[in-house]
Amino acid sequence: MPEGTYSFPRGFLWGCATAAHQVEGNNRNNNWAEWEGQPGRILFDQRAGLACDWWGGRWREDLDRAMETGQNAHRFSVEWSRIQPEPGRWDDDALEFYRRMARGMLERGLRPMVTLHHFTDPLWLAAGWEDDKTPALFARYCERVVEALKEYTNLWVTINEPNVYTQGGYLGGGFPPGKNEAGSAVRVFTNLLRGHAAAYRVIHRLQPDARVGVAHHYRGFLPAHPWLPTDSLAANSLSAAFNDSFPRAIATGRLKLPFYQASLPEAAGTQDFFGLNYYTGENVLLDLFKPRQFFHRRFYRRDAALSQHGFLDSRPDVFWKALKWARGYDLPILITENGWEDAGDDTRPDYMVQHLKKLWWAANSNWRVEGYFHWTLVDNFEWSAGWTLRFGLWGLDENNQQRIRRPSVDLYEAICKQNAISSDVVSRFAPRSFPLLFPG
Ligand code: BGC
Repeated sequence: MPEGTYSFPRGFLWGCATAAHQVEGNNRNNNWAEWEGQPGRILFDQRAGLACDWWGGRWREDLDRAMETGQNAHRFSVEWSRIQPEPGRWDDDALEFYRRMARGMLERGLRPMVTLHHFTDPLWLAAGWEDDKTPALFARYCERVVEALKEYTNLWVTINEPNVYTQGGYLGGGFPPGKNEAGSAVRVFTNLLRGHAAAYRVIHRLQPDARVGVAHHYRGFLPAHPWLPTDSLAANSLSAAFNDSFPRAIATGRLKLPFYQASLPEAAGTQDFFGLNYYTGENVLLDLFKPRQFFHRRFYRRDAALSQHGFLDSRPDVFWKALKWARGYDLPILITENGWEDAGDDTRPDYMVQHLKKLWWAANSNWRVEGYFHWTLVDNFEWSAGWTLRFGLWGLDENNQQRIRRPSVDLYEAICKQNAISSDVVSRFAPRSFPLLFPG
């Protein structure tokens, strides 16, 4: 059997990513808490509830797990509605909670990366990001957070997945406020850009050596029939709108959407690294009977390697495409999310090693890839899918807060500790992938 080791560059960051609403529990003052209370919004009407009880203190034991298994970084988000429960009120205890947690990470050898906005908005922000005043309010909130946390970190993500947030909430994607209106979507998207740009400046003013980025969600859109120009057109236009528009606007100061363009000079050059969230890719074709989907039909390929609930297709080849795409922005790259839903942990090890092999290739081609955050540490509340999708390295019984160690923990531990993927580890934890990674 061939032997070998795929080593990552020295100092590579290995961690997991989490988001406040998905792990903290008892978040009652944001738009998701309200949304979860409306029948039919979440699968089986499930609610975040206590989530992973991080607010109750269980972040300590979970970060112990991260530390003990060789991780050296952690990406987490802070909850705006806790820090600013009302327009004119700041909650110092909430800020102190996050200070304690960031300190807790450093004490465990985990470099904190802070996300300032991960899908949730305070309830008092009634019109959300449709309101042109929101970017300035967001920047004020960021100012408070950065003042409180800057002694612990200089790694910031302003906004998580602005494209998913906008599509989810304003183009019928099952997120609050449940709209399906292109006009609202454009307004929200533009204001997210403005909010990001304003936050970028605030952060750099308070912390000149800050490194600020966005967690960009890249979804692969592949022409269903590559020889059909209409399918290529459909796939490329979708990718341009969904994947490219936000990062390109940040690079150039020009927002280009299918039927809308705007000049946002304040957004140009407001990114110090490229945060990439990648999960999957799918086929696209032009379908004139789908005007509400902008004449696209999307579906997984016939021989897809689907995750447990058919939510994702394992496409390491598309991850490679995503990496090449991200590299085009000419910035250091951090994988801010990548993961797989799989309660039984049957296919997660394969997904993980096959994707990390692509990342290794990029990192060793002298691309500036600096780290990888797996989604996620412990099963968490999966937005409109409730508790049905299990993304954790550790499982969670949300009825009694028990954590269940999945085999992928050992796999990820070996990779983090060795800063490498070795043939020995792959043969033990992902034997099916062995011939792919180490062809004889
Ligand atoms: C989001 C996470 C989510 C994950 C898996 C990403 O788009 O940032 O919050 O849990 O996907 O669905």
